[in-house]
Amino acid sequence: MTMDATSQRFLMCRPTYFAVDYAINPWMDPTAPVDTERAVRQWERLRQVYRDLGHVVEEITPLPGLPDMVFAANGGTVVGDRAMAVQFRDPQRADEAPAYRAWFEAAGFDVYDPKHVNEGEGDVLLAGDVLLAGTGFRTAHASHAQLQEVFGYPVITMQLVDPRFYHLDTALTVLDEQTVAYLPEAFSPGSRAVLRRLFPDAVHATMADAEVLGLNAVSDGRHVVLPEQATGLAAKLRDRGYQTIGVDLSELRKAGGGPKCCTLRLGKASK
Ligand code: ARG
Repeated sequence: MTMDATSQRFLMCRPTYFAVDYAINPWMDPTAPVDTERAVRQWERLRQVYRDLGHVVEEITPLPGLPDMVFAANGGTVVGDRAMAVQFRDPQRADEAPAYRAWFEAAGFDVYDPKHVNEGEGDVLLAGDVLLAGTGFRTAHASHAQLQEVFGYPVITMQLVDPRFYHLDTALTVLDEQTVAYLPEAFSPGSRAVLRRLFPDAVHATMADAEVLGLNAVSDGRHVVLPEQATGLAAKLRDRGYQTIGVDLSELRKAGGGPKCCTLRLGKASK
């Protein structure tokens, strides 16, 4: 088991304009109150946790009128020096795509444009030597073939079946190069069988943990940052030897997002 923490480089977006003005997933209720300042404080704490763990946090400037831009994971998919830009399913988020694309260009990545709906690292997770790619709600199945062409990693399609777990990163967490944690009920029978085959030692989360977005976690191979409400999952991870750090992102959860949604992986930080 590899339990060495690797220092990571992340991209984040301050939730300056965070709100729930529309509903594009079952978590969002535009009639419920949202405290933007509290969201900012919770986000700042997450950023501090990453810094304390030795990770490098880059930031993209938030844009007014784009309340979901805080969910940087949806801004692209980065593997090595390549970045694939995104195409959102919903028009409310469409203008985020060029903003993230411009950030990748300026940061020196080779940028590829999506030909189909693709919501970035919300649905695309590198797990060891394979890319797991979700479909069913957001990212189009057709985009999985393009991901494979662009990155040269085998892409494994994961069929999502529960609308509350609409992005792959709400139903599955990569813990290290060998292991993942996931909610079996969020996947089709075929995808469950594939997960059992690929990850026989995976941690199975309960619905109670998934319902607080506990699987929307960020691991560096040793430390796992996850919603503090996911106490059952945290205990299972500690039993496996991981160090867990709970964060409260309850305000952002009103839009259906947790720590991983706020975090785009840019690769390892160069020492
Ligand atoms: N309100 C956003 C949406 O529905 C939340 C995105 C969460 N991001 C994620 N990577 N799961 O698009």
